Amino acid sequence: MKSEGERIAMVTAYDATFARLIDQSGADMLLVGDSLGMVVQGHATTLPVTMDQMVYHTQAVVRGSERAMVVADLPFMAYQPSVADALRNAGRLMAEGGCQAVKLEGGERSAEAVAALVAAGVPVIGHVGLTPQSVNVFGGYKVQGRGDEAAERVLRDARAVADAGAFGIVLEIVPGELAATITEALEIPTIGIGAGPHCDGQVLVCYDLLGLNEGFSPKFLKHYGTLGEDVRGATRRYVDEVKAGTFPADEHTFH
Ligand code: KIV
Repeated sequence: MKSEGERIAMVTAYDATFARLIDQSGADMLLVGDSLGMVVQGHATTLPVTMDQMVYHTQAVVRGSERAMVVADLPFMAYQPSVADALRNAGRLMAEGGCQAVKLEGGERSAEAVAALVAAGVPVIGHVGLTPQSVNVFGGYKVQGRGDEAAERVLRDARAVADAGAFGIVLEIVPGELAATITEALEIPTIGIGAGPHCDGQVLVCYDLLGLNEGFSPKFLKHYGTLGEDVRGATRRYVDEVKAGTFPADEHTFH
């Protein structure tokens, strides 16, 4: 797709129903992101997400999708301690979860794990820039790669992951100009989130793009729907009808 100039559309999914709807929308890739720790579980960060939870959600997304490629995140501390951990846990996501590829965060520091996974037959997507599992190192969800030295570091990280054999790379919250440079420099596709328009693809969290996460509106996000309003409105009508005794009506009743 990169060589043909076709942009890649990736969307997160965490369950079978959303996976089915997003798959039917024409998205190229479904990402079972560890962002589920925040948008599904209600945590402040992605750090509490476990391997068992990632396997569970990956299985649900795989069951719901027919066409799109399913990529699952390796969660915090599933690959950082050792290459053996990375292999075992990526193996679980592929064999038990049923996904077609895994994603892990980090550039130079993760290159050894990426190379070992690729050698073992696991397709890998890298993730550099703002890597949410390192939020405590960054001191918050801040733009990464601003200034020459920081930009050089992100470019080096992206190159390290590509050289290790990753087939794609997520660029998160970096200046658009830096994302353009990285996209030009690498043969593998870049998939941006908060990384401007020059990446080979884009990814958004499904709850964010659909407007379910109404309180979250960073500069990079566009709401394509108002599902938060829809859920409240539809549920309010249901509650009103139950209170009024007008639901269920005769047509909803077995005789
Ligand atoms: O966990 C996630 O959803 C992600 C995307 C935001 C890239 O890593």
